[in-house]
Amino acid sequence: MLRCSTGSRALNELLLGGIETQAVTEFYGEFGSGKSQICHTLCAIATQPVEAGGLDGGVIYIDTEGTFRPERLNQIARARALEPSHVLKNVAICKIYNSSHLELIVKDIGKYINDFKAKLVIIDSIISLHRAEFPGRGTLADRQQRLNSILHKLIRLSEIFNIAIVITNQVQSSPDTFFGDPTKAAGGNVLGHASTYRIYLKKSGENRVARIIDSPYHPYSDARFTLNEKGADDLEDETASTKKKSANTKKITEKDVEE
Ligand SMILES: Nc1ncnc2c1ncn2[C@@H]1O[C@H](COP(=O)(O)OP(=O)(O)OP(=O)(O)O)[C@@H](O)[C@H]1O
Ligand SMILES: [Mg+2]
Repeated sequence: MLRCSTGSRALNELLLGGIETQAVTEFYGEFGSGKSQICHTLCAIATQPVEAGGLDGGVIYIDTEGTFRPERLNQIARARALEPSHVLKNVAICKIYNSSHLELIVKDIGKYINDFKAKLVIIDSIISLHRAEFPGRGTLADRQQRLNSILHKLIRLSEIFNIAIVITNQVQSSPDTFFGDPTKAAGGNVLGHASTYRIYLKKSGENRVARIIDSPYHPYSDARFTLNEKGADDLEDETASTKKKSANTKKITEKDVEE
């Protein structure tokens, strides 16, 4: 099993090292919460060698919302001092136009994973097309069944090929909540049971908060991170304070030596 860094140390710690192969990791949150940004950052890092926190392989990015931007990937690679041409060469984009197209691509993706030596498959987002094409209660059962079959294929793929699968999901509001956050993940129980790890992303001013919602072994906790030219990144003041701390300890040891 391999782990791929998310780009933010706090987020990696939350995930006990990063996103895992042989698992489906789901990020959900409202618009602008950073789901696509995390996906872009993962694209850049996954192409790097394992020692650098990557998966040393290609990435297949299945884009259902039309939000993938090669320019952004280029910017993230540059800001992280990675070779942009290497990163861009190793990311394959697949634009999806409707829900049947998505089902077809997922069915045949094994071939592409082999050809492309992919180690990471991203679906951004898993639900938007199904949500748009199956409105109302009448079509709900059909929609959930279709989603279910996609998700089960994904779980099997992750195990067979030893790859990491990242999906993003939208939120829906649940008006029956009296206390706390009324937003919950869309897709109901089908999605909830299928993903191995669920991470909820929330805006908090300029920063973002990630929270593990469902996991077979992660403790329930929060991590704060930010979005900048490096993609998902650690908060500046936290890295600065840890640097200060290490600088202080250095001073003390130097003094001690002098004494
Ligand atoms: N180059 C950049 N530098 C800093 N922050 C950026 C940059 N590009 C995007 N962002 C931040 O990322 C946010 C958008 O995040 P993202 O596209 O990941 O949202 P999302 O969760 O995918 O939303 P949606 O549900 O609409 O797809 C913007 O609001 C902005 O704050
Ligand atoms: Mg998005």
